[in-house]
Amino acid sequence: MLEAHALRSGYHGGTVLQGVDLTVSQGSVHAVLGHNGAGKTTLLHTLAGQLPVRSGRIALDGTDLTRRPAHRRARAGIGLVPQGRRVFASLTVAEHLKLAHRRRTAAWTPARVLALLPRLAERLQQRADRLSGGEQQMLAIARALLTGPRVLLLDEPTEGLAPTIAADVLELAAQLAADGLAVLLAAPRPAEVLALADQVTVLSAGRVTVALDGAAARTDPGRVLDALS
Ligand SMILES: Nc1ncnc2c1ncn2[C@@H]1O[C@H](COP(=O)(O)OP(=O)(O)OP(=O)(O)O)[C@@H](O)[C@H]1O
Ligand SMILES: [Mg+2]
Repeated sequence: MLEAHALRSGYHGGTVLQGVDLTVSQGSVHAVLGHNGAGKTTLLHTLAGQLPVRSGRIALDGTDLTRRPAHRRARAGIGLVPQGRRVFASLTVAEHLKLAHRRRTAAWTPARVLALLPRLAERLQQRADRLSGGEQQMLAIARALLTGPRVLLLDEPTEGLAPTIAADVLELAAQLAADGLAVLLAAPRPAEVLALADQVTVLSAGRVTVALDGAAARTDPGRVLDALS
């Protein structure tokens, strides 16, 4: 389980996260909703160690990661799929998988990832910039899986995708959670994620304004929608 307690972080211009509490449990999807600029990416980058923690605490299965650099958090099991996917345009699918797998974690191999994502298997020799948006997103997820995460942080993975492809990406996120991963899913549109979320947090100006379990959010979606209006 990933735990963030009273997390504060930001940039030279000022503090963005103003004391965020959040847990992401194994086998579940925690959706983080919020308007543009609410602090979703800042939260994910702070959890992954790309931004330093100003105060508060991050722990994974009880181990304090607060001061560990990004590469050590990755080794501890935090995998980030960044907003905008950030694949390398001129590298092929196969080259991405080979690079990502250099740590040779036991649980995920390129063969296992390709069995899960057969579309990528058909495009192994394609350059990433020739892939569709959905395929690029699958590649970004495949790359993160090959680092052997216990927690997967997905930053707006459906951004720019057609609805049916977006649904495939969300189904994959749910399937990975069902297989035992802890999944944190930052998303702009509540409609998309309320159906599959086990936990829902709404961020507003760097603060948690709503924290509900998924069933409560589905029973009373107005509480989430009001916080986003
Ligand atoms: N690199 C940066 N340097 C300075 N300020 C930043 C930087 N990145 C983001 N911010 C600011 O931090 C705040 C939170 O931004 P963040 O990107 O975390 O929001 P977000 O919820 O991910 O938004 P979006 O839905 O647009 O992705 C905003 O006010 C933004 O302008
Ligand atoms: Mg963002």
